[in-house]
Amino acid sequence: METKVLHITDAEDAEAIEEAADFLRRGELVIFPTETVYGLGADGLNPEAAEKIFAAKGRPKDNPLILHIAEADQVLDLVTHIPPKAKDCMDMFWPGPLTLIFERSDAVPDAITAGGDTVAIRMPSHPIAHAILKAAKIPVAAPSANTSGRPSPTRLSHVWEDMRGKVPLIVDSGDAAVGIESTVLDVTVDPPMIYRPGGVTKEDLEAIIGEVAIDETAIDAENGGIPKSPGQKYRHYAPRGEATLFAGSLANIAKEINRRLSEAEGVRTAVLATTETVDLYEGADLLIDMGSREDLESVAHNLFDNLRRCDEEEIERIFVEGFEFRGLGVGIMNRLLKACGGKVVLGL
Ligand code: TXA
Ligand code: MG
Repeated sequence: METKVLHITDAEDAEAIEEAADFLRRGELVIFPTETVYGLGADGLNPEAAEKIFAAKGRPKDNPLILHIAEADQVLDLVTHIPPKAKDCMDMFWPGPLTLIFERSDAVPDAITAGGDTVAIRMPSHPIAHAILKAAKIPVAAPSANTSGRPSPTRLSHVWEDMRGKVPLIVDSGDAAVGIESTVLDVTVDPPMIYRPGGVTKEDLEAIIGEVAIDETAIDAENGGIPKSPGQKYRHYAPRGEATLFAGSLANIAKEINRRLSEAEGVRTAVLATTETVDLYEGADLLIDMGSREDLESVAHNLFDNLRRCDEEEIERIFVEGFEFRGLGVGIMNRLLKACGGKVVLGL
């Protein structure tokens, strides 16, 4: 399949927006930018269109999709009811990187919910995403536009690497701002529960709706529990090299990683360090400064690109510094734990 790339920098570019919306209405796949990561979109009310998403990504069929909307009242047709705390979250955090899980209505096809009783919905804040969704006038199902298992795409080059030839249209609007996917919050239970930590933090949510629980399997790589959100159970975000995460005091982390670097004779190694520690390392083939610990927004923004860079440099062993489980650090650690496939060295 030939893949067309449409560069849209202006949400007022009605002709280009209409072209993308038209592909979606005709049941075709369109990759489009959101503020979190690029999405692989299809008409969310058309089961055949949704099927194409699973084929293009190689995504397991039991993993439900998020419906993306432009206006809050589109929710009404898709759910049985809106719980009061969900309403508060919609008012406060939409548009933005928060996905809410509701009880589904009959309007939502089984292909979207993987046959379950709930449906995930979010309203992106990216102006181009908003314009396309508004023009399409349909809820658009969209997972992250990566091949299943790979790091989510935050730049056109990532999308191109994974999806060229598999979709007819890619809309390019530059780099994704947030860099990790939306927070997934189940508002069908009380207290509401975070299944996937992301751009909107637990602290942000609790300031508005009070107590919020978090699915422990989302932040505990060693736990054998079954995640509440199907997508969280798969190996994810994984670079091709073997990655290990290190947690503890920064000086001890650096000491332990340096020891392992010195033992990794003849193996291509990378260290994912931070601005505060990057000067402490010796002998890595690739030394990446993920950003300052004081600026987790920028760490999140570059996270998936940094994981993909390890692949570009054909790195075989990757040593990654951990972050504190606080604020955006929770979402960053969730992605790193999964990228490391549970290989974690704690208590340094
Ligand atoms: O930021 C994002 O959310 C991006 C952009 C494109 O919007 N989308 C995204 O979609 O990350 P995806 O499919 O890669 O991840 C959706 C996550 C998966 O972990 C999935 O299992 C979960 O949301 N999910 C979707 N519907 C669900 C449901 N009804 N119940 C529980 N979890 C659900
Ligand atoms: Mg994904």
